[in-house]
Amino acid sequence: MAKAGINHIAFIMDGNGRWAQARGLSRLDGHKEGANTLRTVVETLIEQNVPVASFYAFSSENWGRPKAEVEGLMLLLKNYLTSEVDKLAEKGAKLTFVGDRTKGGKLSSSILALMDKAEEKTKDGTAIHLNICINYGGQDEIARAVQKLVDAGEGVITPKAIESQLDTAGQPMPDLCIRTGGEQRLSNFMLWQLSYAELFFSKSYWPAFSKEELTQIIQDFSGRQRRFGKLPENQ
Ligand code: FPP
Repeated sequence: MAKAGINHIAFIMDGNGRWAQARGLSRLDGHKEGANTLRTVVETLIEQNVPVASFYAFSSENWGRPKAEVEGLMLLLKNYLTSEVDKLAEKGAKLTFVGDRTKGGKLSSSILALMDKAEEKTKDGTAIHLNICINYGGQDEIARAVQKLVDAGEGVITPKAIESQLDTAGQPMPDLCIRTGGEQRLSNFMLWQLSYAELFFSKSYWPAFSKEELTQIIQDFSGRQRRFGKLPENQ
């Protein structure tokens, strides 16, 4: 099979809390440092010509964390959406938000409005497409997709039809998923989209995940063969 090109990388940004605790800092300090890593990673992805990347920033399950941590993460997100969007637009990034954005749901109307604004502001970006996954759960996304088909009166539900209703409809599927923080699980992230993805588990905590490590993973991946359930070519 041809040398693998990369169309999409999905990131599970884990280990902010442990990174902070190991330094006697608060968990929120870990998330703040995590936001800096996100910036470095985006710059590296642009340099490496990766066209699409997805980031698991806040899961549907994260609402169950202590109130102070949830509020801190939402504030960090608000700051990110106000201070970072112009810089991302300048770099040519296109931002979209993936997850449940139901009005009157768990995300505040001010955050929902900032998301709309960020998408509008960056819609013409061509350097990279970034999906920021917020209030996101893979099972929830699939259920919402199927519900849309049912509401539209579809009698036959095919994988292709479900795919057409996912939050990431029309985008290439991730070729690889990188999870930092040492755990080896998907934690309900992009369950449909990651069906054939290569999985990389890094022991680095997200705030310590470096440009060098990411570049190495991209190089390693480019040397791998992907078979999609078939045999390698020439066999
Ligand atoms: C998991 O680490 C990380 C999160 C729940 C949040 C990820 C958020 C960021 C990287 C912040 C920046 C993002 C934006 C869009 C502003 P954890 O807290 O579960 O770490 P632990 O497993 O060590 O406790």
